[in-house]
Order: sequence, then structure tokens, then C-alpha cells
Amino acid sequence: MTTLQDPVEGTPHVTAQTVPALPTETVVTPAIRRPEPYMRLQWTDSVTGAVGYLVVHTLRSGLATGGTRMRAGCTLTEVEDLARGMANKTATFDLPVGGAKGGIDFDPKDPRAIEVLERFCEAMRPWIDAHWVTAEDLGVPQHLIDEVFEKLGLGQSYHAAIRRADDPAATLERVRNGLNAAVDGGFLLGDVIGGYGVAHACLAAAVSWGQSPAATTVAIQGIGTMGGAAAYYLHEAGMTVTALADAAGTLYCAEGLDVPALLDLRDGFGEIDRARLPEGIEQLPRAEVLSVDADILVPAAISYAITPDNSFDITARIIVEAANAATTPEAEAMLAARGVPVLPDFVANAGAVAWAWWLLLGQVDDNPENSFDRLRTIMHSKVAELLSAWTEQGRTPRETGHRWADDPAPPAGPVVIP
Ligand SMILES: NC(=O)c1ccc[n+]([C@@H]2O[C@H](COP(=O)([O-])OP(=O)(O)OC[C@H]3O[C@@H](n4cnc5c(N)ncnc54)[C@H](O)[C@@H]3O)[C@@H](O)[C@H]2O)c1
Repeated sequence: MTTLQDPVEGTPHVTAQTVPALPTETVVTPAIRRPEPYMRLQWTDSVTGAVGYLVVHTLRSGLATGGTRMRAGCTLTEVEDLARGMANKTATFDLPVGGAKGGIDFDPKDPRAIEVLERFCEAMRPWIDAHWVTAEDLGVPQHLIDEVFEKLGLGQSYHAAIRRADDPAATLERVRNGLNAAVDGGFLLGDVIGGYGVAHACLAAAVSWGQSPAATTVAIQGIGTMGGAAAYYLHEAGMTVTALADAAGTLYCAEGLDVPALLDLRDGFGEIDRARLPEGIEQLPRAEVLSVDADILVPAAISYAITPDNSFDITARIIVEAANAATTPEAEAMLAARGVPVLPDFVANAGAVAWAWWLLLGQVDDNPENSFDRLRTIMHSKVAELLSAWTEQGRTPRETGHRWADDPAPPAGPVVIP
């Protein structure tokens, strides 16, 4: 199924099995927040029966950006929500491209997962070759998707942008150097930058309360790429991380968890080895991370984690969405009625995609300090604005964010990848 819609009017104009020629060059249309996606594409794996989706919510200059996730139970509706969120992120951060998302309904721990990802990417080749810049997401680490792209002869998952450069090989090397720049803690810049942005969204919230990091507590659901890096930088800033959850359960310590020690016990799926847990950690059921005593709650795992069923269990003063679509609209309305704001995904976790494009556009390099400085400054300023609109005008952070997404900076010109 391929359904393309007019990017501006939103009316369907093509239904076809193949991808038609799309503009690749100089036209830069303004970002427009629209309810319906530009295109939905559905694929079925002939070997396992797994179903995968690509949703392009907006296409600008022939480009759309957004990661690829894999999880058993992933649905088209979920991928549509995520693609819409990506369009909000690119507009909010004035990136000159549209938003998209890929999703595969398959267990990432299944030994056949990488082959499924490879066949999905092969099926999506016209899009990943020319228009869709993808990256890691839930269940798909960056190194895995890069391996698949390399095997398909496409170099790296940012291929659709990189191929536009005058010297794609040099651009690929520059991008790889940025992604693989070493940072403290033994991590790579590309793996931690999104979580660093989330950590600074949390720190900005504490600043808005006039509270020091040391006097602030945080609970984090998910300790993979996003949750792990957010936990690391919050711990480094002196905040007390009282609870961390992975798919196996919640780990809790009221005095604060030793985050670096726990990160060292993670496997490739972001799960902590329970056999080697340090002393003094309480093991709680998985869902308890939402209700433990903490000032800030960071959902950093699945979408739709916070629902009307569990929103009343939440005791935190604020939710900072590291996971995409972490809070259902109904739950968010219930939280707002209780005076609990939600910093939306398309601001709080958008450091990951914004940084990827800063790197592609040559605005940051492989010096991590330049990237950290830029993201920290922007995140603090955006969160301060969101929270002042919340406290002074009673406008939810999401509503303020949507106003930004509806009114992005005018296009600066064609997308030039140096
Ligand atoms: N990776 C990125 O660059 C990126 C960027 C922006 C947003 N996000 C969003 O962040 C979220 C996490 O992505 P990621 O890349 O960190 O994933 P990941 O696969 O690296 O890690 C997922 C983590 O969540 C845990 N988990 C899974 N199900 C859980 C559950 N029911 N309860 C508690 N923990 C659970 C896993 O054990 C693991 O620790 C997703 O919503 C993703 O869309 C990711």
C-alpha cells in the first residue's frame, strides 16, 4: 500500500505500488503542521510475516527524517503518531526537512531480527536511497541500522542526505567522525547526545523551580540509548536518580542509584544484569517506576506509557518525555488538570534529530563540546519558555510547542550538505 498526499493541501493524489519521482533539489517549502500524513507505506516480510511501515508525515526539499523502531506489536497508528511527532520536531528546531518514521512489528530479540531489518530496508530502498534519512530508535541501535545500510551498499543510515553532497565519501567520513567522537564515560557522541538534551530539559525544569540539581530527584523508565544517557548526565549534574526501569523491572534506591555502575551492567538491549546488582537496591515491579517518589518522571522507553489508567499513580511534579508519544492525550489532560505539565517529546528529546542535522549541515563537528554547548543552550531556552507559558498563562507546554511548530523560521534556502 502506498498512498501519497499533496504535501500542502493534504488531498490524496497518487495511489501506487511504486515510488514516483519526487523533488530532490532546491525547493524548500515552509513546514506546515498537518493532521494527515503525506504518505503511508506498508510492507510484509515474505519470510517471517513481520509487518513494517514507513510513514512520511511531511516532505520538505524532498527529504524527511526519522528513526526506525522494532517492537512486537508496533502498529501503523503508532508509526503515524511518531512521524507526526518528527514533523513537529523538525519544525520546532527549524530543520529544513520533513518528518517520517519507520516501524517493524517484530521482536528485536528474535535471532532473525537483523535479517528482518535488512529486508525492510531493502523494500524501502527507493525512499532510503533518495528521501528518507533514518536512524536508531527503540529496539534498533545505530550500529545495527548502519550495518544494514552498509550491507545494502548505502554506507550509513543518513545516506539520502549524504548522497547530495559534492563529495559524499568525504561527508560520510565527517558524519562518522561526529557520531563516533568519544565522550566521557566511554560513550560515543552520537549515542548520548539525545539523552544529554533530555537531561538538560530536566535540569531546566529544576532551574525554573529555583531548585538545585542536588535537591531534585528523578525516575527514568528505560535505560537504553535515551534513558541511559539521560540518567548519566543527570547523575553527573548532581541530580538524585532514585529509580531506573528496564523491560525486566524497576530498580529503586531513595538515596540515589549509582548510575554509571548500573550502566556498565547493561546488555545490548538496554537491560541490566540482575545477578550483578550493587548492594542496597530494591527491585520493584516494572510499572512502579511511574509512581515512585521523584520530582521528575522521564518516560524513556515505550510509546503510550502514561495512560488514563496510570496517570493518577504519578507523583512527579513534571513529566519530561524522552520516549516519543509517551503520554496519551487523555492522560496528559488529566495530568494538566492536576497541575502536572508534560514537556513534549518534540522538544525534550529532539536534541537527537536536531544534532544529526546540525552534523549533516556542517554546523557542529566531532568536537563534543561544540555540540553539548549548542544543545544545552537551546534546550534551556526552549524549556524556560514552555514553563513560563505554563505558570504564567496556564498554557500547556505541548500547546506552546505546537505554536512554534506552526510558525517555524522561514526557509533559509536550499538544503546544502557540505
Ligand atoms: N534512540 C534515539 O536516538 C531516540 C531519539 C529520540 C527519541 N527516542 C525515543 O526514546 C525511546 C527509547 O528509545 P531508545 O533508542 O532509547 O531504545 P532502546 O531500545 O535503546 O532502549 C529501550 C529501553 O527501554 C526498556 N524498556 C522496554 N520496554 C519497557 C517497559 N515496558 N518498561 C520499562 N522499560 C522498558 C528497555 O529494557 C531499554 O532499557 C523511544 O520511544 C524512542 O522513540 C529515541
